[in-house]
Amino acid sequence: MRRGVKMAECFVEMNGQALASPRKRPRRDDTHKVTVVLGAQWGDEGKGKVVDLLAIDADIVCRCQGGNNAGHTVVVDDREYDFHLLPSGIINPKCKSIIGNGVVVHLPGLFDELQKNEAKGLTNWKDRLLISDRAHIVFDFHQPLLGGLVCVLQQVDGLQELEKGKKSLGTTKKGIGPTYSSKATRNGIRIADLLGDYSQFVEKFQGLAAVYQRMFPDLQVDVEAELVRYKAFVERIRPYVVESVSYLHSALWSGQKVLVEGANAAMLDIDFGTYPYVTSSNCSIGGVCTGLGLPPCNIGEVIGVVKAYTTRVGDGPFPTELLDATGNLLQTRGREVGVTTKRKRRCGWLDLALLQYTTMVNGYSALCVTKLDILDTLAEIKVGISYKSKGEKLNYFPSNTAELAGVEVEYITLPGWQTSIEDVRDYEKLPHNAKKYIQMIEEHIQVPVKWIGVGKDRESIINVY
Ligand code: GDP
Ligand code: IMO
Ligand code: MG
Repeated sequence: MRRGVKMAECFVEMNGQALASPRKRPRRDDTHKVTVVLGAQWGDEGKGKVVDLLAIDADIVCRCQGGNNAGHTVVVDDREYDFHLLPSGIINPKCKSIIGNGVVVHLPGLFDELQKNEAKGLTNWKDRLLISDRAHIVFDFHQPLLGGLVCVLQQVDGLQELEKGKKSLGTTKKGIGPTYSSKATRNGIRIADLLGDYSQFVEKFQGLAAVYQRMFPDLQVDVEAELVRYKAFVERIRPYVVESVSYLHSALWSGQKVLVEGANAAMLDIDFGTYPYVTSSNCSIGGVCTGLGLPPCNIGEVIGVVKAYTTRVGDGPFPTELLDATGNLLQTRGREVGVTTKRKRRCGWLDLALLQYTTMVNGYSALCVTKLDILDTLAEIKVGISYKSKGEKLNYFPSNTAELAGVEVEYITLPGWQTSIEDVRDYEKLPHNAKKYIQMIEEHIQVPVKWIGVGKDRESIINVY
């Protein structure tokens, strides 16, 4: 296993200098800060594309949370890559890619993803992929459990809920919830366990499988076959496994530029999202610290990626959802179909009450507004700016699902630009009404818009400043 040996040298250096002269003590400055890309709505904002853009200047791109529930698209020339577990920066042949300790890893899925992208042109990944030994493993039996888990919960909560029409969560069925549950229950299995004494891994695996089989008697787990399969993974993944905390800090101290690729999004965050219609990790800024072992002082620029309208996959409240022809138009023009599950994404107007809330949680230093081109044909564009509940304007974002589902959204209406912006690369050349739309976002959110997406391709972006 690779270790961050340079970090130890770094400590020696630091201590040496501190003893010689306290004034010379090395300080963390901008060169030791990471740039973070986070989803500011319900996911699929175009994080993959933004990461691809920023990876040009990065030495390392890291994933810090989630698993292969994420689906990040990068379009280079005519090739469309989709990344689920791999950081999108992996297509940059200069970048190392780290799958951090906060990620949950389905190993067969990881190797399938590598193979699929290799066929599309991904090169020399073997020298560049690193996986944290603290990352938890998603086993196959975690995955079908999601369907089973919902059934059991429905049984436990009673048929009454079903009668009320309560829906399932609409998860991606990638085993994310059960794996993070195992992690929190402390019977989860980490990459380090797989690479250590195999007999101990066997014991842990048998124990975990037995727990789930007790919970779900119909669950079929061929424990012996799985153990043979995982034995084969040991040597396959060993070359990529690293103690990622010291590796990353060592890289930062040596001046390497690190980019963090958030997966999922703030409104899917287990603490701050629309619970229980969320994923099982912290996909807001806190997950960057816990998922990579980075203290807050190492966080530099935080880029919030915001679609020019709103989409959501799966169930849960969505105050600005459009269940009409405009919603269909956004879905069709925006090709709003899930990268991971191929489900149609629900579509609605941009919601600035929501964006204000995720700005508080994440502290964006800049925004990237994507898919502005999808609004090209509209004569009028509505934007939700605040919520009312029982006739009162809310000065907070509702935590209660029923309250959020019942809010009345106050909208402003802006004129559209009704011309194609696909070929625009200079902010000043955007139609007046498109600039007004961007300025309106900046005024409400008080965060500058640094990039504007005008198409799916790598170069279809406006760098505003
Ligand atoms: P992610 O999960 O946040 O990385 O986003 P997804 O890849 O799931 O979904 C975003 C989709 O929008 C992808 O198909 C992208 O190729 C596409 N996309 C990203 N930015 C733009 C843009 O500015 N305009 C258009 N038309 N498509 C975009
Ligand atoms: P990216 O990174 C959109 C949603 C699922 C479901 C809920 C819980 O591509 O933006 P899970 O399988 O995580 O337990 O599902 O969260 N979800 C996403 N929706 N984009 C994503 O990722 C998502 N990751 C999870 O649809 O509603
Ligand atoms: Mg996606």
